[in-house]
Amino acid sequence: MDRYQFGAGEHAAIARLAFDEAGIVLAPNKAQLVYGRLARLVRACGLDSFADYVVRIEEDADERARAVDALTTNHTGFFRESHHFDHFVAEVWPTLRRRLAEGGRVRLWSAACSSGEEPYTFVIAALGREKGLARELASRDFRVLATDLSQTILTAARAGRYPQDVASTIPAALRALWTEPTEDGFAIAEGARAPIAFRPLNLLRPWPMRNRFDAIFCRNVMIYFDEATKARLQARLADQLAPGGFLYIGHSERLAADVAPRFASIGRTIYRKVDA
Ligand SMILES: C[S@@+](CC[C@H](N)C(=O)[O-])C[C@H]1O[C@@H](n2cnc3c(N)ncnc32)[C@H](O)[C@@H]1O
Repeated sequence: MDRYQFGAGEHAAIARLAFDEAGIVLAPNKAQLVYGRLARLVRACGLDSFADYVVRIEEDADERARAVDALTTNHTGFFRESHHFDHFVAEVWPTLRRRLAEGGRVRLWSAACSSGEEPYTFVIAALGREKGLARELASRDFRVLATDLSQTILTAARAGRYPQDVASTIPAALRALWTEPTEDGFAIAEGARAPIAFRPLNLLRPWPMRNRFDAIFCRNVMIYFDEATKARLQARLADQLAPGGFLYIGHSERLAADVAPRFASIGRTIYRKVDA
């Protein structure tokens, strides 16, 4: 493997770019991670040094996007932090389902969905053991938006195909109904895929969505941001929720002091919007 010169100056330049573009904080102790993620891109560009690569990404927006994409951490899993889905199914979904049956609209958002396990999980959890529900929902005004900054990971999310070893966290009865075997693992069944639209979206930039959401899952992305970015994002998530809407955040994440009054804390890292 190539060994490129990678000093504090190159790390600082790349860290600044990741922060400006995506809000991602890369402290000096992440230098090895940055090297590991970007060395193949330096090579693919035919460059001999990180110093040249820094110049390239400062000048070339497409390469900059590739670099930021490579710097994202996409760790996720089906039914990760499963108490969120227990809460959603028991406390939130029955009301939403009633509304759908009465001809109303329901919108859910997985903000920073990574390879899709999170939105597929809450759709599968909502569908539960009723095979016919997917068909019923297809005729209702039910949409799930799933967004991420990384185009690479969104391609995987849209494909909805996973290796067998990640299937074990999906409860067996739901796995039997909402996944299908493939040669090398499994795929999410059409009924659970149909409501979800996967779209690229940088959470730091303007959001094109006009509708407000009944529930937002924004989990394990704010851990990469600084306090000011977290607070700004949380205020925007609050604005984007319908009154009484639910916000689920990652287990090590907290609401910022000036955003917290807009929510009632109703469970571990589960919040209900209380303002209008
Ligand atoms: C660790 S994954 C979390 C996935 C899922 N929400 C979960 O909890 O399992 C973090 C995701 O945030 C995305 N991300 C990082 N910065 C982002 C930004 N500024 N805008 C949108 N997505 C971002 C990454 O691409 C990555 O897929």
